[in-house]
Amino acid sequence: MALKITVIGTGYLGATHAAAMAELGFEVLGLDIVPEKIAMLSAGRVPMYEPGLEELLARHVVGIEGSSGRLRFTTSWAEAGAFGDIHFVCVNTPQKHGEYACDMSFVDAAFSSLAPHLTGPALVVGKSTVPVGSAARLAGLLRELAPGEVELAWNPEFLREGFAVADTLHPDRIVVGVESERAEKLLREVYATPVSEGSPFVVTDFPTAELVKTAANSFLATKISFINAMAEVCEAAGGDVVKLAEAIGHDDRIGKKFLRAGIGFGGGCLPKDIRAFMARAGELGADQALTFLREVDSVNMRRRSHMVELAREAVGGSFLGKRVAVLGATFKPDSDDVRDSPALNVAGQIHLQGGQVTVYDPKGMANARVLFPTLGYADSALATVRGADVVLHLTEWAEFRELDPAELGAAVASRIVLDGRNALDGAAWREAGWTYRAMGRPTA
Ligand code: UDX
Repeated sequence: MALKITVIGTGYLGATHAAAMAELGFEVLGLDIVPEKIAMLSAGRVPMYEPGLEELLARHVVGIEGSSGRLRFTTSWAEAGAFGDIHFVCVNTPQKHGEYACDMSFVDAAFSSLAPHLTGPALVVGKSTVPVGSAARLAGLLRELAPGEVELAWNPEFLREGFAVADTLHPDRIVVGVESERAEKLLREVYATPVSEGSPFVVTDFPTAELVKTAANSFLATKISFINAMAEVCEAAGGDVVKLAEAIGHDDRIGKKFLRAGIGFGGGCLPKDIRAFMARAGELGADQALTFLREVDSVNMRRRSHMVELAREAVGGSFLGKRVAVLGATFKPDSDDVRDSPALNVAGQIHLQGGQVTVYDPKGMANARVLFPTLGYADSALATVRGADVVLHLTEWAEFRELDPAELGAAVASRIVLDGRNALDGAAWREAGWTYRAMGRPTA
C-alpha cells in the first residue's frame, strides 16, 4: 500500500513539498495552523507566487475537477497524527528578533503539537533549516511526548524560490540523516522516483545532515560576497567585474554560477542562515571557524549602502526634494518574497534620507506595501519612473530587461539609471541618451 504522508507547515517549502509528494503518487495531507492558508490551498490556490505550483496543486487537490484527489489540507493535529506513516516538518525558522540566532519556536511548537497524536508507528522527518544539534534534541522530545513507536530523520531542503517545483521534483541531491535502517528504507521509498532519475541519495548522521544545509548556504553566500568584494576593487581600480566573473568562471573549479555582482543577497534564507550558523558555532565553542562569515555578511550589507551612495551622488548629493524610481522590490525575480530584500532596503534607506521613492515590482507589491507602508508605489515601470531624478534597477525581473529606454527616457526628469543587478543592456540605455551606471563596472 502506498505510503501516507503529512506535511506540517504550508509555506514555500511545505506547500511545494506536499504537492510534489502527491505528484510522486503518495496520499498527502498538508497541515497549517493558519486557517486562511488551508482554505486557499484546499481551493487549489497558492498563498504566494511560485511559478508552476498552482498548476501542480490543481493536478492533485481533492475536489478539483480532473485532479488525482491525493492531496488535501487540514488544521487538525489529531487528523495529521492519525493519517501519516511519515510526517515532514516544513515550518520556518526565522532569525530571532534582534539576535543572530535562529528562532526555533515554530519547529518546537510543531513537534510538541504533533507528537501526542502519534499513537502508531511513524517516522517524523525534519526539513526545516535548524542549528546543528536540533535533531538530537527533537528526537528526545518525540520520545518523551509520542505515545507510539516514533522515530526521527533529518532531510534538509535545498529548493530555490522561483524554482521550487523543479528543485523538489528533480533535486540536485537528497540528504538524509538517519539513526536506523528502517528510516533509511522509508526515505528511499519516498524518493525512489527522483533517485531513479539520477538524484544522488546521501545517507548520513543527524549533525552532518543539519550541517550540509548551512554549509551549502554559507558557501553560496560566500561566493556572492566574493564577487561583490571584487566589484569593490574593480570600482577602485577601474576594472569590470562582469568580465572578471566571466573569465574566472571558465575555470570549472570556480564555475560561472552565483558570481553575479550587484546589491547582494537577501531573502528568507541566506542572510539569516549564515547568522544563525555563526551564533551556533559560538555556542559550540567553534566561533573562530566562521569569523569569515561576518565578513561575508558585511560585504553584502555594504553593497546596499553603496547603492544608496551612488544614487545620492547621481541626484547631486542630497535626496531632499528628489524623486527616486525603484524597479524591483522582491529579493530576487520570479518570487513575491520581500523578506530581507536588498531592493526594499535600499528604497527604505533613501526614503529615510528624504528622497521621494516610488517602487514598482511585477509580483511583490502587496508584500512590499505591508513591510514598507510609507514608500510610494506605482503600478507599472513607466508610472514609477515618471518625473524621476534617478532610476534604480534593483531586482532583475525579465520585464525590466524588455523595457524601452527611449520610452522611459521621455518620462523621467533626468536620464540616469543605476543597475544594481548588472542585468540591463547598458549599451541600449546609453544609446537612448541615458547615463547608465552598473556596480563594479567602468562608468563610461
Ligand atoms: C537559497 C539557496 O539557493 C537554496 O538552495 C536554499 O534552499 C535557500 O536559500 P533562495 O533564497 O531561494 O535560495 O535564493 P537564491 O537563488 O539562492 O538567491 C539568494 C540571493 O542571492 C538573492 O537575493 C539573489 O539576488 C542573490 N544572488 C544570487 C546574487 O546577488 N548574485 C548571484 O550570483 C546569485
